[in-house]
Amino acid sequence: MAKHHQTFICQSCGAVYNRWKGKCEACGGWNTVVEETGAAHPMVGPAATRPSRAKGRVFKLEGLAGATSEAPRTPTGIAELDRVTGGGFVRGSVILIGGDPGIGKSTLLMQASAALAAAGQRVAYISGEEAIAQVRLRAERLGLGHAPVELAAETNVEDIVATLSQGRPPVLAIIDSIQTMWTETVESAPGTVTQVRGSAQALIRFAKTQGTSVILVGHVTKDGQIAGPRVVEHMVDAVVSFEGDPGHHFRILRAMKNRFGPTDEIGVFEMTDRGLAEVPNPSELFLAGRDQGTAGTAVFAGMEGTRPLLVEIQALVAPTSLGTPRRAVVGWDPNRLSMVLAVLEAHGGLKLGMHDIYLNVAGGLRITEPAADLAAAAALVSSLTGAPLPPDTVYFGEVGLSGAIRPVAHAQARLKEAAKLGFSSAVAPNLRGEKGERPLPGASSIGHITDLIAGIATSRPRAAMRAR
Ligand code: TYD
Ligand code: MG
Repeated sequence: MAKHHQTFICQSCGAVYNRWKGKCEACGGWNTVVEETGAAHPMVGPAATRPSRAKGRVFKLEGLAGATSEAPRTPTGIAELDRVTGGGFVRGSVILIGGDPGIGKSTLLMQASAALAAAGQRVAYISGEEAIAQVRLRAERLGLGHAPVELAAETNVEDIVATLSQGRPPVLAIIDSIQTMWTETVESAPGTVTQVRGSAQALIRFAKTQGTSVILVGHVTKDGQIAGPRVVEHMVDAVVSFEGDPGHHFRILRAMKNRFGPTDEIGVFEMTDRGLAEVPNPSELFLAGRDQGTAGTAVFAGMEGTRPLLVEIQALVAPTSLGTPRRAVVGWDPNRLSMVLAVLEAHGGLKLGMHDIYLNVAGGLRITEPAADLAAAAALVSSLTGAPLPPDTVYFGEVGLSGAIRPVAHAQARLKEAAKLGFSSAVAPNLRGEKGERPLPGASSIGHITDLIAGIATSRPRAAMRAR
């Protein structure tokens, strides 16, 4: 019998302590350390008592070639989902899908399950949060009431594994959510880090032995009460986040870790009254309802993975009434905003110290590319001067601390997408011209951009700024 001892475990990062602490030293979270009874590690029971073998089995990498040249995948037919997974779920792989409650995780996974089940595959949807009737109600609302998906409302992992092991192994099993699961091998209360980790381990073992793709749903909560799914991130093959602004209909599926595919692709969906609809051309959606002819907006020609994506960047620069001016950013990195502002002050001749500054990426998208620097700078200068930017122009380029505008990857793809959507010019770094095309003259420094926009401003009566 394993010796029981008290351990204190941080519920947000999984750090283990031998006494209670108000603040977790590992992740800095307050009030996240909770006492858990039982072993700190869920390896108790049969696995722990098994005598250790002298040798493991060793394979030669070259000897395995050919047998597994391409990971066998199960595409769902939902193109935006398959794009993010890298072409479908890999057999025997485990995916953690995280996201705020109510963002649409259960809806997306029900649609994926129904698509696979309709194609004749065995698919199981295990709900630990909702009763069967609720799950069926949602499926009916989605028009999928007749899909042959196996439904179960169950939270005990041993029961789930026993049920799934009967008959031919399912191609896909959805566990909604991992926080509600509990395993008998661990004594801690359901929802604690130890239980989440123990349950995930058992389900991963099942996936690897049966070749079933398992999807674990994980809620991300700001407070540390519910065990964060972060502790299982390193155990699973892929971590995908489903994000979006509750005020918008767009939902973005983004791979953060993927052992079998790319991590920079995104899938774009729109939440409708009949579930999630794919958005095959997101640029059109993100630019719909764009304010043309108002100051402070610039269209950024971005890339998400292999796909170009046009979004509007909005800035508001207004004189402050506070001692310390406000800086607020939605959808972009605040540190990059500070950097662009510093460069505009140092090399663009702008005075921004007495202004509140707000920057927003329209449509609820989150941009991580440095190529957005130039579009953000253009929107900021436009707002400060009150000069609207030409509506048929896109912007992209990385701004260096020296004020130089540096080239970015995939310039041609960005320009092609912009041309497709009716834009006729681009402000971008010098384009060398791919595959022997003629070079395009571009902007080389931030001073060029401020001069350019100041030129628009001075040709209008409401000129408010002089650059340089
Ligand atoms: P859900 O998939 O239950 O979210 P999660 O599993 O991530 O917690 O989605 C819940 C939200 O989606 C809810 O606020 C209602 C909305 N919704 C629609 O707008 N249309 C639909 O067809 C469905 C099923 C849900
Ligand atoms: Mg749900």
